[in-house]
Amino acid sequence: MSTNKKLTTSWGAPVGDNQNSMTAGSRGPTLIQDVHLLEKLAHFNRERVPERVVHAKGAGAHGYFEVTNDVSQYTKAKVFNGVGKRTPLFIRFSTVAGENGSSDTVRDPRGFAVKFYTEDGNYDIVGNNTPVFFIRDAIKFPDFIHTQKRDPQTHLKNPTAIWDFWSLSPESLHQVTILMSDRGIPATFRHMHGYGSHTFKWVNEDGEGAWIKYHFRTEQGVKNLSPDLATKLAGENPDYHTEDLFNAIEKGDFPEWKLYVQIMPLEDANTYRFDPFDVTKVWSQKDYPLIEVGRMVLDRNPENYFAEVEQATFSPGTLVPGVDVSPDKMLQGRLFAYADAHRYRVGANHNQLPINRPKNEVNNYQRDGQMRFGNNGGGSVYYEPNSFDGPAESPEDKQAAYAVSGYADAVSYDEFDHYTQAGDLYRLLSEEERTRLVANIVDAMKPVEIEDIKLRQVQHFYKADPEYGTRIAEGLGLPLPQEV
Ligand code: HEM
Repeated sequence: MSTNKKLTTSWGAPVGDNQNSMTAGSRGPTLIQDVHLLEKLAHFNRERVPERVVHAKGAGAHGYFEVTNDVSQYTKAKVFNGVGKRTPLFIRFSTVAGENGSSDTVRDPRGFAVKFYTEDGNYDIVGNNTPVFFIRDAIKFPDFIHTQKRDPQTHLKNPTAIWDFWSLSPESLHQVTILMSDRGIPATFRHMHGYGSHTFKWVNEDGEGAWIKYHFRTEQGVKNLSPDLATKLAGENPDYHTEDLFNAIEKGDFPEWKLYVQIMPLEDANTYRFDPFDVTKVWSQKDYPLIEVGRMVLDRNPENYFAEVEQATFSPGTLVPGVDVSPDKMLQGRLFAYADAHRYRVGANHNQLPINRPKNEVNNYQRDGQMRFGNNGGGSVYYEPNSFDGPAESPEDKQAAYAVSGYADAVSYDEFDHYTQAGDLYRLLSEEERTRLVANIVDAMKPVEIEDIKLRQVQHFYKADPEYGTRIAEGLGLPLPQEV
């Protein structure tokens, strides 16, 4: 006798026949009363949820964070307190522009999203493998991403749109330089650094704050793919990075990163030589050296991709006491965008799914909604304030107050030097690295259909460094840029 469990329908009834649908006579039409068939076909039709509007292709892993240095003078966040303490985490790496199923080895920033399951609730750092970003105001994000995605008519990637937008948004120059450098195509997810990119605020037990930036530095060393190898792999194994991560963890070769922070005293933000909340800029490590916090180790693969990776929801607004946001105009927009995307993509109760559910107790007055799990609060008190001893706010966990001033207005950052840091990066590169950077840019810009766009972009490279601009102009067969 078979020891297999009985196959059941989703309502738990045993299935009598899973090979043949029920028909009227052996050659007759199929019967609507075959409810198992109907359920099977209908559920299959609903297997897809919307893919992430960006960062659709990704891979995830479980692991832990271990504190290695006492930073309690800067933050009361429990995840970063108590040397030796371990907190479980889940990470998702991704590319940005491609669809779910696109190649892993394209030139693109890589997402680096970490969810720490802390004692005080979940804390997400939703960063990239680059310390800066292309734009610095959330209002430009949908336009920027339109240029990275497919053309509405041809359904092809559109280099003219990409470089048109970048050339008209020179704040992108620093990130474009990183993207076009060797680091634009990491060898694997294991061989890249990760950054929180934005400025955040850490707050300690005494309510004192400091501005901080996160740096995850890979212990595997930084390694990149040459464009030729990346192109070959894109054809041979589009899931190259996904496979590499899974196999490394499967065979016990657990990847590891060290987490550091740069810490800036609050008052320095008023006098630093540029706006420290501008996400197109890095803070000098001479001014604000890296301070070690701990180590992140990935040691367990997901058991089910959809349940753990596709349904994972990360948001820069998933914060815990000890970490507040900064006025960075990109970060502020992201505080809306992610949870909104999650409600659409996964559902209003996405935080109840096992991968997103905090490991500490959740007590609140949210009730009902689609796909509500558990007992929905049972008969417990369902409003607040109440006289029935329901969960109550804890004033000590409020975000730290800070002073603001000025006029409510739509204004830009008041500083427009998009060139110094991009140029500094160019000047840091070796001759071989510069040659490859220029070649990558020339290849990427060649298909741009409008000469004025190319000329405008070359001017930006020239302003970053005359040699940089000149070499690209030469590569594209354009007139040499004049100093402006
Ligand atoms: C994913 C919006 C900037 C890193 C997403 C998603 C949205 C979004 C809607 C999909 C979320 C989901 O469906 O779960 C935005 C907006 C931005 C912005 C509006 C600017 C205002 C950034 C920046 C970074 C970043 C600056 C990195 C520093 C990521 C990552 C993911 C993501 C890593 C994938 C998260 C995952 O693995 O689930 N973004 N984004 N984004 N974004 Fe952004």
